[in-house]
Amino acid sequence: MKKVKLSLGDRSYSILVSKGLIKDICKYTSSFFPGKKVLVVSDTTVGRLYGINCVEALRKGGMISEIINVPVGEKSKSIEQLDKIFNKLSRLKVGREDGIIALGGGVVGDLAGLAAATFLRGISLVQVPTTLLSQVDSSVGGKTAINTIYGKNLVGSFFQPRVVLCDLETMFSLRQREFRNGLAEVVKHAVIRDESFFDFLEKNTSKILNRDSRSLEKIVFRNCRIKGDVVEIDETERGLRQILNFGHTLGHALESLFGFSKKLLHGEAVSIGMSAVAQMSFSAGFCEKEDVNRLQKLLTSFKLPIKLQKAPSLREVKRYVLHDKKVRDGKPKFVILKKIGNVESGIELNSQLWSASIEGKLV
Ligand SMILES: NC(=O)c1ccc[n+]([C@@H]2O[C@H](COP(=O)([O-])OP(=O)(O)OC[C@H]3O[C@@H](n4cnc5c(N)ncnc54)[C@H](O)[C@@H]3O)[C@@H](O)[C@H]2O)c1
Ligand SMILES: [Zn+2]
Repeated sequence: MKKVKLSLGDRSYSILVSKGLIKDICKYTSSFFPGKKVLVVSDTTVGRLYGINCVEALRKGGMISEIINVPVGEKSKSIEQLDKIFNKLSRLKVGREDGIIALGGGVVGDLAGLAAATFLRGISLVQVPTTLLSQVDSSVGGKTAINTIYGKNLVGSFFQPRVVLCDLETMFSLRQREFRNGLAEVVKHAVIRDESFFDFLEKNTSKILNRDSRSLEKIVFRNCRIKGDVVEIDETERGLRQILNFGHTLGHALESLFGFSKKLLHGEAVSIGMSAVAQMSFSAGFCEKEDVNRLQKLLTSFKLPIKLQKAPSLREVKRYVLHDKKVRDGKPKFVILKKIGNVESGIELNSQLWSASIEGKLV
């Protein structure tokens, strides 16, 4: 088993990475729920695959546990589903000594996280991420949120879990496209902080795509450490944490343009966004062409897209970029590439280059 410790004062916690954690869930979580009541929040797919075993394991360990399965997909990050969770918690008479286990991908993690952050002004939360994206990214760092009709993640809070359990066994039931979706964030973490990890990814692409157990353990562990290091320094995104948005400025705009649909998954949009910003970084003289080539080659070998055949018009891209909640004074700031393993946030880039970079025409 590998362990990443996050030092955040009285909000410190560990991330455990291993196979078979769900089976032994009581061992790793019961101390956080002295009142013995736990609501497992999942979605209908993950609930069917792992929820029943999870609840049974909790009950065997003497906990009083129930499960609520929200519908699969982004739409569940809503006030309606949050309300359903609050009602279920109330019916179960969940108190301050009890808590929530979020069992699922980033959707469940964000929704259940917000429920835990707000019910009774905060009850214990355990994250059990089951997609690669949630194991390497969304379950680490304490961001929770739901969407409103005005935009994504508009209502949320920073709320750290008591422990994160990355059960590697859950990786084997993921569809290949969902798995690759998470690899985009894996590449991102390597690019922003760790060239030797980037080398490892380059040398082990086929093992990783085949979900070799040791490679999986290594990538989940390294990613949690990289993101954890950034979060330890800047928990609430006032400075350094912004580098985690590498590839996300244009990525988010593309996701919005595609209506957050299955046509373009988050990781796929981020992959195009990373490739685009790397090209612009080269054009603006921040990095070498070789760095852009390496990044694009790695993304391609993970079968991730690095461009759109036809980019949306500049007007359209601008509309979505400027709509991003992180944009202030109408001037979007990018995280640019300096070299593999090193990026810089807060840089303006010429908007005339945006569309061409999305089409892969700059380098
Ligand atoms: N909080 C953060 O810091 C943060 C960071 C990045 C992304 N996010 C959020 O995460 C969400 C995306 O997360 P996601 O990509 O995990 O999507 P998701 O939660 O929708 O899961 C993707 C699909 O995989 C299925 N699934 C999950 N685990 C499975 C398993 N083990 N086997 C088979 N199928 C499984 C789900 O049912 C779903 O259909 C977005 O809402 C995004 O905003 C949050
Ligand atoms: Zn992301």
